[in-house]
Amino acid sequence: MYSDTARAGTPTSTAPSAPTWDPQQYLRHSGHRTRPFLDLLTRIPELPHRPARIADLGCGPGNVTTLLTERWPEARVTGFDLSPEMLHRAGEEHAGPTPGGGSLDFRHGDLATWLPEEPYDLIVSNAALQWVPNHPGSFGAWINGLRPGGTFAFQIPGNFTAPSHALLAQQCDTPRWRSRLAGHGARYIHLLEPAEYLARFTELGCEADIWETTYHQLLQGPDPVLDWVKGTALRPVLTALGDDRDAVDAFLTEYRDRLRAAYPTGPRGTVFPFRRIFAVARKEA
Ligand SMILES: C[S@@+](CC[C@H](N)C(=O)[O-])C[C@H]1O[C@@H](n2cnc3c(N)ncnc32)[C@H](O)[C@@H]1O
Repeated sequence: MYSDTARAGTPTSTAPSAPTWDPQQYLRHSGHRTRPFLDLLTRIPELPHRPARIADLGCGPGNVTTLLTERWPEARVTGFDLSPEMLHRAGEEHAGPTPGGGSLDFRHGDLATWLPEEPYDLIVSNAALQWVPNHPGSFGAWINGLRPGGTFAFQIPGNFTAPSHALLAQQCDTPRWRSRLAGHGARYIHLLEPAEYLARFTELGCEADIWETTYHQLLQGPDPVLDWVKGTALRPVLTALGDDRDAVDAFLTEYRDRLRAAYPTGPRGTVFPFRRIFAVARKEA
């Protein structure tokens, strides 16, 4: 099911511009979406300096960023994101001093060009680098920006050949939608496979810990896979169709029917398998 044909190591030049995000929709599945970050956190080693300086790249609504302040209570943590909607939500809900004497703030930043502006002990990114076509090209600069013994860690979905995404790409490429949605199916061809991430980090002199996990998520409610992708993979499509309500409804109805066939609902819910790729790279002390 998960071949590596969805990636070629070459950035896509056809990816449309940044989508509009909906924090409320995204947070509807926060339990399943947070679990991989908790699994990533368990593999991050002690940081070289206290209080730690931490960056969260593509922080979204900030709920995952706060987990960093639980593990490193006195840390100064900054979340960077491109989406005004996500930054607004993060700032309102989570910014300020933390109970352990640290702080949490959120800033606008584009990961395509972001560079560490001061030495960091940890740079982390959860479910965001898949939106950044040339992200492996930034690894060297980001690791340079770490203190000796510091860590760069990320998690990205590795499910872009799964039916949820393959069906979306196929539908965008049908004659009915192609003229408005061309390029959406090619968004993720830049993602690397775990062995390639391992090679990148060892070439950069890091101690690397790379793995993948498929979570067999049991979702509840009607059309739960559609509801899930409305918070993430569908954002670019919904942004491209904009205020054209008829087109949005027609697209969602067609896609919903495809998803129902691919992910049938059973007596206990709908199983939505989700492969994720993890990387923890520690800079030499
Ligand atoms: C799926 S959400 C993940 C949010 C959060 N890290 C979490 O785990 O809940 C992806 C986030 O990446 C952000 N993002 C996408 N492309 C970006 C870019 N080029 N620069 C900064 N943030 C970006 C989006 O705005 C969105 O908030």
